[in-house]
Amino acid sequence: LPEKTLAMIKPDAVQSNYTSMIRQIIVSEGFHILEEKLAHLDDVAAKSFYKEHAERSFFPSLIRFMTSGPVYAMILEREGAIKKWRTLMGPTDSNKARVQAPDSIRAKFGIDGEKNSVHGSDSTEAAIREIATFFRDFQESNMDSSR
Ligand code: CMP
Repeated sequence: LPEKTLAMIKPDAVQSNYTSMIRQIIVSEGFHILEEKLAHLDDVAAKSFYKEHAERSFFPSLIRFMTSGPVYAMILEREGAIKKWRTLMGPTDSNKARVQAPDSIRAKFGIDGEKNSVHGSDSTEAAIREIATFFRDFQESNMDSSR
């Protein structure tokens, strides 16, 4: 069944000009990119996007990082998109990824546990919320996977 997820290329990878290489990997792995845009999160948007991590010690640093430069957001669609994209990204910590999943995107393009090159929604609910964060015109009806 086709499913949608929100993929985001983070400021570290956009800054390093990895956007087109990461985008190519995504397409070659069978994802359809339904919408895409360059965006710059402000403090309010970044805090809202990562609100589930608000109490974590790394939160202030994460918000500084995520607002430090542009991000590249994409709506991805394919069968099992949420899980497939998370597998393709690899473990959160890029250094762990280089050991555990050397072919993953975070292994290839990430720097460390924070500057890890990409983000992906972790659930259907998160995908709906995160897609709406970047693509306000992308209606709920367009997100119905039964289509
Ligand atoms: P992401 O998958 O986007 O979700 C939350 C983000 O917080 C994560 O990627 C990292 O960028 C960051 N993060 C998670 N854990 C840590 C950590 N222990 N130290 C610093 N940053 C972290």
